[in-house]
Amino acid sequence: MKILVMHGPNLNLLGTREPAIYGTVTLEEINTMVTAYGEERGAEVATYQSNHEGSLIDAIHVAATDKYDAIVFNPGAYTHTSMAIADAIRAVPVPVIEVHLSNLFARGPERAKSITAAACRGLVSGFGHECYLLGIDAALRTARAPRKRSSENPSRRRTGKKRSSALARRPRS
Ligand code: DQA
Repeated sequence: MKILVMHGPNLNLLGTREPAIYGTVTLEEINTMVTAYGEERGAEVATYQSNHEGSLIDAIHVAATDKYDAIVFNPGAYTHTSMAIADAIRAVPVPVIEVHLSNLFARGPERAKSITAAACRGLVSGFGHECYLLGIDAALRTARAPRKRSSENPSRRRTGKKRSSALARRPRS
C-alpha cells in the first residue's frame, strides 16, 4: 500500500504560521509522524509540499502513474479557489482524502466552501495535525484493495453453474 501525503501553499510555514489556528507542530514533524504512522500499519508513505498550483496538479498525475493507492491532501487556500486541482483529482483513479488542520466550517463563509472536497473521497477537518493521521486511517480503510484473481478468491471462482438471481427464484404467477 502506497500513500502520498501532499501539502499545499504556506503549509511549509507550519509551526510559526498563525499558531493559534494551525498549532506549533512543523511540517517536518508532521511528515515524520505520518511516515512512522503509515509504516506501523504496513503502508509506505511519501510526502510532498508545494506553493504552486501546477506543481500540485503534476504531483497528482504522477501519483496515478506511480500507482499510489491513495493521496491524503491538504490543498491549503487552493481548497477554496482551484477548479484545476479539483479537475486533476477527478482525472485520476487514485482516491484522495482531503484534510485540514482547522475546522473550515467554523472560519467564516469564505472558507466554509471547498471546491476540491467535492472531487475527493471524503474530508477530515478541524483536528490539528491529527487530521493527517486520521487521513491515513481513512486511506487505509477505503483505498482500493489489490484485486484478487478468481483462482485466489473462492467466492468468485466460476463453477459452471448458472447463478440463481432473486428474480429467477421469484414464484411464477
Ligand atoms: C487550511 C485551511 C485553509 O483555509 C487555509 O488557507 C490553509 C490551511 C487548514 O489546514 O486548515 O492554508 O487548509
